[in-house]
Amino acid sequence: MTRTVRPRVFVTRQLPGEALGRLGERVDLRVWEEELPPSRDRLMEEAAGAEGLVTLLTDRVDARLLALAPGLRAVSNVAVGYDNIDVAACTRQRVAVGNTPGALTETSADFAFALILGLARRVAEADAYVRAGKWRTWSPTLLLGTDVYGATLGIVGAGGIGAAVARRARGFGMRILYTSREPKPALEAEVGARWVDKATLLAQADILSLHVPLTPQTRHWVGREELREMKPGALLVNTSRGGVVDPEALVEALRGGRLGGAALDVTEPEPLPVDSPLMTLPNVLLAPHIASASHATRGRMASMAVDNLLAALEGRRPPHCVNPEVFA
Ligand code: GLV
Repeated sequence: MTRTVRPRVFVTRQLPGEALGRLGERVDLRVWEEELPPSRDRLMEEAAGAEGLVTLLTDRVDARLLALAPGLRAVSNVAVGYDNIDVAACTRQRVAVGNTPGALTETSADFAFALILGLARRVAEADAYVRAGKWRTWSPTLLLGTDVYGATLGIVGAGGIGAAVARRARGFGMRILYTSREPKPALEAEVGARWVDKATLLAQADILSLHVPLTPQTRHWVGREELREMKPGALLVNTSRGGVVDPEALVEALRGGRLGGAALDVTEPEPLPVDSPLMTLPNVLLAPHIASASHATRGRMASMAVDNLLAALEGRRPPHCVNPEVFA
């Protein structure tokens, strides 16, 4: 009787739901059980003996790691974004890269909207005010914010999440402008959004919401010049990647009063250092990269990542593969 050798798979963190149990039935599984990610050295060590990796956006997979991992066949990222992975280097080594698009679209759009509302209507400040025992009477001037209803929303990147945010914005009676590589007639017909160029978007948006992946083209898409071109007092909401915004220029614009406020689920770097000036600014709303963090969605993401990995290890093209040419 021949004994089948199961492929070795390293998973860089415990994942919610049933997915890892399912993976464990098919592969020789090692799961990193710590709260913090494995160190770079540890990840390289584990990758060296692995055929599959299940990674998170905190794990860098680059040419150096790949050089040490000749047996690697698949890297499955539990995220829609994959800027932590050098996809070109993976493709050269015929390593399939998977991601989890779709699974988190609505959940992430919900959170982007939570940040839009929370920032515009100062929800976190209000909570802190009450808890601090400062609430002495109803006041006509207490914690005045900005109306979301009727405001112009500028959406940067009208992919799945950007479009889902636009749908929510329509329900709030917002005027919706967007930029993307090409116009999206179906989205325009559905929510009345208008495709505009970058200059128009910056000049007209009361609230600018970012929904682009981090690439060399989008790095610091919001920089000093863009912040100067934005409508005075506008609000910036980032649920995409921290690197899409130049952090120094952002602090300057917030301190100078040019920008009315910023809500950031993502920062450069992550985690945000405790001595970051952003921590001390009252018109900044912060979250620890949790836009997709609902029980159901995180379970779905884990399950998709496992499906992607198993397919690749069986020599099939994963359902969600960012470098399908590996299977050509
Ligand atoms: C989260 O940021 C993701 O890319 O899924």
